[in-house]
Amino acid sequence: MIRNSLKRGLSSAELFETEAAFGATNYAPIRCAIKRAEGVYMWDVEDKRYFDFLSAYSAVNQGHCHPKIIDAAVQQMKTLHLTSRAFFNDQLGPYSEFVTKFFGYDRILPMNTGVEGGETACKIARKWAYEVKGVEADQAEIIFAAENFWGRTLAACSSSTDPTCFTNFGPKMPGFSIVPYNDLAALEERFKANPNIAAFMVEPIQGEAGVVVPDDGYLRGVRALCDKYNVLWIADEVQTGLARTGKMLAVDYENVKPDLLILGKALSGGVYPVSAVLGSHETILSIRPGEHGSTYGGNPVACAVAKASLEVLVDEDLAGNAYRKGEVLRKELSALPEEIVSLVRGRGLLNAIVINEGYDATEICYKLKDNGLLAKPTHGHIIRFAPPLVINDEQLTECIDIIDSTVRSFL
Ligand SMILES: Cc1ncc(COP(=O)(O)O)c(C=O)c1O
Repeated sequence: MIRNSLKRGLSSAELFETEAAFGATNYAPIRCAIKRAEGVYMWDVEDKRYFDFLSAYSAVNQGHCHPKIIDAAVQQMKTLHLTSRAFFNDQLGPYSEFVTKFFGYDRILPMNTGVEGGETACKIARKWAYEVKGVEADQAEIIFAAENFWGRTLAACSSSTDPTCFTNFGPKMPGFSIVPYNDLAALEERFKANPNIAAFMVEPIQGEAGVVVPDDGYLRGVRALCDKYNVLWIADEVQTGLARTGKMLAVDYENVKPDLLILGKALSGGVYPVSAVLGSHETILSIRPGEHGSTYGGNPVACAVAKASLEVLVDEDLAGNAYRKGEVLRKELSALPEEIVSLVRGRGLLNAIVINEGYDATEICYKLKDNGLLAKPTHGHIIRFAPPLVINDEQLTECIDIIDSTVRSFL
């Protein structure tokens, strides 16, 4: 029976049911079953077309099924897909040189998912603290910003301030602490009080918290404080990086360079799990053979895909496009009725609207879906708008019309 239904293709309703019957319940997706996608568009199994306004949480910056990235993946898969790091492969060295020069760092430690990038950065920071900074054994502390999100591993849960992330998953990992986001005075107080701080890990714009943009000067201030107190600054650019916010990196808005840069998601254009931690010789080389790694990290397909993905960002000036389209989008979103939308914020094409009490963000998203645009609420009252960065003027105008008429239909 299963074989038959696979052959004919299941309807959306059947797909929802099948997942509900056999899958875990760790996600609550919008009820829309996609079967193919291209550029800014996705089609469901009934062939209804949608604009993708989530981009797989900013993984698909280069657009769905970008031919250059897919070609790189297919060619490499047909040639050599995995050696493990037990041996060298012909892709990792050249990719490492390419990506480090691209971002101006000395070295890369390649991993797969964003959360592994975060874990890796934390391990590097602890190792650096003990072996370079001179922190006493097991005393290193890493500080995180309140409302951070960097994934779902036990370390990520241990540094989360969101109860759904950590409740009943305890005990939390020691050596992690929290400061308020966008608060330099609080950060300095903590740096002053404890000489054992290894690192401060922070998103330049908090994505999952609802696209929270810090004050101008915050990132420069973080850089200065980390320098003053000999603390590593870890920037989590897994969501904000790679042209999403209108610059190649969100930290470029303040012309500052983190000590450790975590990239993921769009590093592969969403084609493959590829993440990376970039840093100096001193930080990255604190990890020695056997102390960290992954069977898949730095595999030939990942390297080929990541190189192509970065080239697409540059060749198509996707940062410039994100910047320009973002200005238009926010201007138009600001004209939405204030009875329903209390705030519009974001940078480039990472944006959110905050929905007033009395209106339901999920209901609005379902109406947007009916009208051909897919977005997902975060925290119940915020809707993120983050289309692929290849969106053109005409498509953006159509999307703005859909958003405008949908929101107004709730008045
Ligand atoms: C800022 C940030 N860091 C890390 C992650 C984790 O990435 P992944 O889901 O690939 O593990 C996410 C995912 O949304 C993120 O937004």
